[in-house]
Amino acid sequence: MQKRIAVIAGDGIGPEITGEARKVLDRVCQKFGHTFLYTDVLMGGASIDVHGVPLTDEAIETAKGSDAVLMGAIGGNTSTSPWYQLPPDKRPEAGLLKIRKALNLFANLRPAYLYEELKDACPLRPDIIGDGFDMMIMRELTGGLYFGERHTETVDGVRRAVDTLTYDEKEIRRVTVRAFDIARKRRKKVTSVDKANVLDSSRLWRKVVEEVAADYPDVAYEHMLVDNCAMQLVMNPRQFDVILTENMFGDILSDEASMVTGSIGMLSSASLNDTKFGLYEPSHGSAPDIAGKDVANPIATILSAAMMLRFSFDMDEEADAVEAAVKQVLKEGYRTPDIMSEGKTLVGTKQMGSLIAERI
Ligand code: IPM
Ligand code: MG
Repeated sequence: MQKRIAVIAGDGIGPEITGEARKVLDRVCQKFGHTFLYTDVLMGGASIDVHGVPLTDEAIETAKGSDAVLMGAIGGNTSTSPWYQLPPDKRPEAGLLKIRKALNLFANLRPAYLYEELKDACPLRPDIIGDGFDMMIMRELTGGLYFGERHTETVDGVRRAVDTLTYDEKEIRRVTVRAFDIARKRRKKVTSVDKANVLDSSRLWRKVVEEVAADYPDVAYEHMLVDNCAMQLVMNPRQFDVILTENMFGDILSDEASMVTGSIGMLSSASLNDTKFGLYEPSHGSAPDIAGKDVANPIATILSAAMMLRFSFDMDEEADAVEAAVKQVLKEGYRTPDIMSEGKTLVGTKQMGSLIAERI
């Protein structure tokens, strides 16, 4: 099969980790007889430096014209980088929000999985970890506070800032359907997270989730308030299968969920629209402090590429092969510094990519 992949390397460690993901994808091509054609696309600080804006219309068109987008990470050090002297709509992150909206990537999947081999890195007590946990956060990605009307004003000499949280039932329904579809292929449970004891948007969210749930009698569901969910994630993470939630709650809870696995450098993500198209990126950021030092963990990006094979290209066997190669390398004891522990073999970004590619 031939596929066109737009690659947004981005900033910081972005170029290094996407480079390793490409190495692995090239190996997949060789092994399974596919051809992947890559086009580099600038976004974030890398685009600001060249075009003065974090994402150009041409870049969006290139992304749209491809079968999927593979992304590294964007952004710099928020206190020292000149990018952060720019107005908010010109900063690197604005490019990410713009591409999510332009490509209608409303369904953001963030798996949080505890690797048996990395149990030591998990900050939770062994009795809480038990035999491990495996959850999938489904974060709504193109609505809510991130995209509501906002402004800052001065009224009678007093500064005031307004952000609005809006959802309509269609936006809630389409992401809810995705969550239930995914739960059906997993352990058949959806926990919908909201703040229905306070917010109107959450009360509508609950109603729509109940309407959708009626079409999935085989999938169990529950509602959970977001503050309680934050607590349950560290108290009893094993109870969760699919967590469905709105944009802002999902941003916060997915960082928490990834941290309880102990290794944010391992976690992938997929942002999907209502076609096969998707944008795939690691859950972590651009880590400018370690950029260019060959120490970043490329596994989250490699696993994001595996998600691309599975969700956008329907290449399940190929995706399984990449995931198995990652597990194999961990089993053999190879570790980048972020997941290093006693008695294991320390490797750099490039060597980790090569080891995984060789095992496909
Ligand atoms: C994420 C990030 C982004 C978000 C930032 C960089 C705008 O934190 O993907 O979780 O808040 O969505
Ligand atoms: Mg975030």
